[in-house]
Amino acid sequence: MQENAFVVWEDRYSVGIPAIDEQHKELLVLTNKLYDACREGEESARGYFKEVIRSAVEYVQFHFTSEERLMERINFPELATHKVQHTQFVKQVLEEVKNFEQGKTFVPNTFVRYLRDWILTHIAMSDIKYAEYIKTLKKQGTLQNFL
Ligand SMILES: [Fe+2]
Repeated sequence: MQENAFVVWEDRYSVGIPAIDEQHKELLVLTNKLYDACREGEESARGYFKEVIRSAVEYVQFHFTSEERLMERINFPELATHKVQHTQFVKQVLEEVKNFEQGKTFVPNTFVRYLRDWILTHIAMSDIKYAEYIKTLKKQGTLQNFL
């Protein structure tokens, strides 16, 4: 990831699960792509933004599904609450994408900032919880050879 990127991965964002960290890094890469798309000139930016936003939505859904499968496998007690956060985020993003596609009020810069802030806060406040839960299970020896 470039040094001067909109959002740069930092080790403190790590939840200690390499596969999940890689997916979170990819989310930041996509956020940067969207940010770059916002900075390009008018018409070409719209086309590029449209393209990137579609792959971003697909990737977000793929990522959430993998997290939810992981939480199911470990019987994570807060799975339901976590799932609601995912669902609401996807709903919000799709709403914004619809606004963008229909030419309604849509401010790309505000949108990418929202993405960045949501992702980083969600990692720090919510993803860390299932990661900690996995650590505890591993310490107890319940999750040997897991991940
Ligand atoms: Fe999550």
